[in-house]
Amino acid sequence: MVAKDQKTNHHLDPTEIGLRPGLEGVPVTQSAICDIDGVKGELRYRGYPIAELASHSSFLETTYLLIWGDLPSPQQLRDFEREVQMHRRVSFRVRDMMKCFPASGHPMDALQSSAASLGLFYSRRAIDDPQYVYDAVVRLIAKIPTMVAAFQLIRKGQDPIQPRDDLAYSANFLYMLTEREPDPLSARIFDKCLILHAEHSLNASTFSARVTASTLTDPYAVIASAVGTLAGPLHGGANEDVIKMLEDIGDPEQANSYLEKAIAKKQKIMGFGHREYKVKDPRASILQGLAEELFARFGKDEMYDVARTLEKQSERSLGKKGIYPNVDFYSGLVYRKLGIPRDLFTPVFAISRVAGWLAHWREQLGANRIFRPSQIYTGEKSRKWKQADDRLSPTSI
Ligand code: SDX
Repeated sequence: MVAKDQKTNHHLDPTEIGLRPGLEGVPVTQSAICDIDGVKGELRYRGYPIAELASHSSFLETTYLLIWGDLPSPQQLRDFEREVQMHRRVSFRVRDMMKCFPASGHPMDALQSSAASLGLFYSRRAIDDPQYVYDAVVRLIAKIPTMVAAFQLIRKGQDPIQPRDDLAYSANFLYMLTEREPDPLSARIFDKCLILHAEHSLNASTFSARVTASTLTDPYAVIASAVGTLAGPLHGGANEDVIKMLEDIGDPEQANSYLEKAIAKKQKIMGFGHREYKVKDPRASILQGLAEELFARFGKDEMYDVARTLEKQSERSLGKKGIYPNVDFYSGLVYRKLGIPRDLFTPVFAISRVAGWLAHWREQLGANRIFRPSQIYTGEKSRKWKQADDRLSPTSI
């Protein structure tokens, strides 16, 4: 398959372009949503520095900024917050479907299934209708947290509790998840975590979202595709593995020997490294501060000393390769202190990243060309049919 160069209509031979595993460094779209400077360690959403948004904004205000390109007026924000609050509830059919899921299943699989099921209820596909797009954004931002919290209660053998209209977005999620109203500090810190995880240019799950969006399918399928991609341990699933790693190390004194053994075995240190950042992920530094705020109020998590020691010890061996803590390294320590179960860390990442995925969905629709990259074929050129009796024993599968 030889691609066409759009301008010259010249057929591009893939071998001329050269293989780029993982599309490393290859621009496949133009975007105005998020800008990352991996050398300086800077991250901006629609031009606003992440630290300013984390300090001054709310997750729903940041969601509005990401999706529609500007910070909302006070009236626009009130309208958006009210719409989201009115659409938090999920059909009993979806809840009953979730009751058939095995309690031992991973919450990311439950989320991917229930997110996709929303497409059955809103089957009209009118992606060229701005009202349809607005309604889909509101429904997904509103219902994803409800579905994450619902599976948590269902797998404990309980009925999900309904959203509370008198609670703001983040407080309501923590209430539905833990069955108790969170204190204001916990709700504020959780909301900042959602801001920090909301968007990150063309990461793997956002790329999935854009590829799926480019076929003009419905937004629920786009989000289900992105959720499945985020679940992997090299991407959103790392936050869960970081806590497992810190617990395996157990004691700050053991951090260095753990690091040396892992590096000797060329084993990846979870929560470290990044395709873009060659310095510490700015989000990791902000999350560290949020963890320390929680520890000051509710008591320290001894795993934090293990994490800090591991970070310091890694400077010599990994720092020189540009491998530093990423967003997943400290986020789990914040979530643990907020009482969020470990296997819900990645679903919480998904609750936040729905904002970025939807921003990219809208942007893709605005200038769409279906994704269809090329390949360098390395298989057999042409073979003649063989009757079954003439075939050698199959190669091992
Ligand atoms: C997220 O893309 C995004 O923006 C993602 C994200 C977002 O907000 O959407 O930021 C969220 O996914 C953060 C990343 C979470 N994943 C992890 O923490 C898992 C551990 N990290 C690695 O798997 C890795 O760093 C990646 C996947 C994050 C990035 O991988 P790359 O860019 O493909 O790098 P690579 O695997 O080609 O490694 C290059 C070198 C190798 O050494 P050499 O063979 O060249 O000697 O760096 C080494 C790797 O071994 N390396 C690591 C390492 N990460 C890379 N060595 C030890 N520990 C690590 N974590």
